[in-house]
Amino acid sequence: MTLVLGISAFYHDSAAALVRDGEVVAAAQEERFSRRKHDERFPAHAVEYCLREAGCTMRDVDYVGFYEKPLAKFDRLMRTYLAFAPQGYRSLRQAIPVWLATKLRIPREMDRALDARREGQYAFPEHHESHAASAFYPSPFDEAAILTLDGVGEWSTATIGVGRGRHIELTHELRFPHSLGLLYSAFTYYAGFKVNSAEYKVMGLAPYGEPRFLDRILTHLIDLREDGSFRMDMRYFNYCQGLTMTSPRFDALFDGPPRDPNAPLTQREMDLAASVQAVTDEIVLRCGRHVRGLTGMRHLAISGGVALNCVSTGKLLRAGVFDDIWVQPASGDAGGALGVALFVWHHLLGHDRQARPGDAQHGSLLGPAYTDDEIRRFLDGIGAPYTYCADPDELCGAVADRLDAGEVIGWFQGRMEFGPRALGSRSILGDARDPAMQSRINQKIKYREGFRPFAPAVLAEHCGDWFAHDRPSPYMTFVAPVSPAQLRPPSPEELGVTGLDRLAVPRSTIPAVTHVDGTARLQTVGAEANPRFRELLRAFHRRTGCPVLVNTSFNVRGEPIVCSPADAYACFLRTDMDGLALGSFLLDQRAKRAVELGVRATLEQDWGVGLDRGSGDYALSD
Ligand SMILES: [Fe+2]
Repeated sequence: MTLVLGISAFYHDSAAALVRDGEVVAAAQEERFSRRKHDERFPAHAVEYCLREAGCTMRDVDYVGFYEKPLAKFDRLMRTYLAFAPQGYRSLRQAIPVWLATKLRIPREMDRALDARREGQYAFPEHHESHAASAFYPSPFDEAAILTLDGVGEWSTATIGVGRGRHIELTHELRFPHSLGLLYSAFTYYAGFKVNSAEYKVMGLAPYGEPRFLDRILTHLIDLREDGSFRMDMRYFNYCQGLTMTSPRFDALFDGPPRDPNAPLTQREMDLAASVQAVTDEIVLRCGRHVRGLTGMRHLAISGGVALNCVSTGKLLRAGVFDDIWVQPASGDAGGALGVALFVWHHLLGHDRQARPGDAQHGSLLGPAYTDDEIRRFLDGIGAPYTYCADPDELCGAVADRLDAGEVIGWFQGRMEFGPRALGSRSILGDARDPAMQSRINQKIKYREGFRPFAPAVLAEHCGDWFAHDRPSPYMTFVAPVSPAQLRPPSPEELGVTGLDRLAVPRSTIPAVTHVDGTARLQTVGAEANPRFRELLRAFHRRTGCPVLVNTSFNVRGEPIVCSPADAYACFLRTDMDGLALGSFLLDQRAKRAVELGVRATLEQDWGVGLDRGSGDYALSD
């Protein structure tokens, strides 16, 4: 038996993944255990969990892969500084101590964290090799073109290549500072949102705007070529030498300073979002066409932070450039942990790879699960009243009834998801037909901005009746149009509604999951990955004729998705959620009222879960 541990750490979203004889056994992000969002520290808890899941200890691990080359990254930092010196001294002065203390000594750091000397057992592939491996190896393709797009690794910001059997070959790259991820982040920053975290808010805001800045971006900011590569005019940006993303020249080009994060959103931010999204769509499309022509491959595997832009990937899919596209669901740097582990196994150790129908990602249900016995012990321990449903059909029927009655239910089942999306294991669910559902969940349960759409989960076999999408999409990696048959034409008065007010206009028979442009980031739920979630959708469909539910991640704004029953229960107490299905246990409002005071002390003392963080905070950005 050979065990390979993959690690990504020390930048943001640290994670661990464990591969046993080529099989992905477990993968998880550190933030879920430490409860610190985007936690970048060494993923000690995630490593411990992965080993526990495999029933082994660190001594059994044969190889450890780290997802990038720290020295090459440091080289890029220093060369960039020298190119701009003496500008950039302030940012360098902030960065150097961290590099000296940790990043340059990563093998030693890892020895210490893993509690063993592991000379000769470490592998450090390049950042984009890890992304590429995470895209290709778990994909359902024997061979495929590979495209990686992100902010930056060592020097690469985008790569293209080919995966064939057990080999990956990256043949072309775009290099720092020219970067689609950093261009998108620059607009994220300029629109008053948090970089490396809120890019998806820009994507969600884009359909409210008009791309009226598109020409300005293409004329001044980037020189875009037919093959999708581009050069950025760095006079408009400040990320090489400064502590901000954009420069005064950028501000002048777009008629003013960046939005104050506390100021209200205006049409201008929506138009900026629409413009950078349009550029991103175009670059992804051109890259796709180029890599198709270059490699002749009919299939594409894609990863890197930009691949989480499911609007662009959806458009690339519908453009028909490839017969099929597989997007690594954990495309951000957390997924590098999975990628590097598979890279070591196949590429470095030379083990054959057999592509699997579907894929080898296990529906990304790669995190911890809790048994009914463990959940019962927890609930009894805090004295929470519950109803136990021995029969899963009974549980699903009861939850479906409550969803049909308009309730919002926390749904905690089986193994936690790996990647940023909840896929029916750590989810908050609601009735997609209810026009008030989107603002209700946003304001009373997740405490987040009202403009952000929710995603639908749909029974795979009914997908075509509800969405213009003709293939499985089990990971919410594509945005697709809602089927014309389900769309509802706006009335003459509604046509006059502008800006964020458009949110209140129901656009389809499933308004809670239909974005203002008539699209949805859909998850199809087939027979394989998550039987209990599928049974719930079937039960809801039998009652209502609708095979679609709102599926949003089980957390409040600014916090990681819940991991344990205690996390889920605390989130339930702190929000306006109506019910909670914890494994086979169903809880309702009585569980809140009856025990809240006593539970508060117990949760905090015995389970280390605080109840005060985040709630009631309605500010626009986090
Ligand atoms: Fe990356």
